[in-house]
Amino acid sequence: MATILLINGPNLNLLGIRETSIYGNLSLANIESQVAGFVEASGHELDCFQSNHEGDIIDRIHLALEQGIAYIIINPAGFTHTSVAIRDAVLAVNIPFIEVHLSEPKSREPFRHYSYFSDIAQEVISGEGPDGYLKAAASAVKRLNH
Ligand code: DQA
Repeated sequence: MATILLINGPNLNLLGIRETSIYGNLSLANIESQVAGFVEASGHELDCFQSNHEGDIIDRIHLALEQGIAYIIINPAGFTHTSVAIRDAVLAVNIPFIEVHLSEPKSREPFRHYSYFSDIAQEVISGEGPDGYLKAAASAVKRLNH
């Protein structure tokens, strides 16, 4: 049994309230419990973490190394387009990860077109709403069982 870590970045705690025409009506708690259900049914374990603070996300990624986390699924949210430091953290711990976005950032404002994570992610899933997290979990489980 392996543990997968699901990390959500800033403002994603407001899912279900925040810009629902872009991000939908499901709360983060709802998405997390769906993903946990899937991962557990696959014989693995899910840890969930959300923070609005860059340093806290970096600390959580460092802790993942100590905990022996096998795989990370991360939606860095606004930090996708700004954070060299979170990129460096995932490279530092060398834990494979999938990058997820609810919306399709490349179809939105130009400042969302660049991701500091996509070139080092095993996979990028975007524009599929909450289903993207389940797809990421399915892919992570498949890779872990391989
Ligand atoms: C997002 C896209 C980002 O551009 C944005 O800053 C977010 C959410 C998404 O899930 O679509 O906060 O990562």
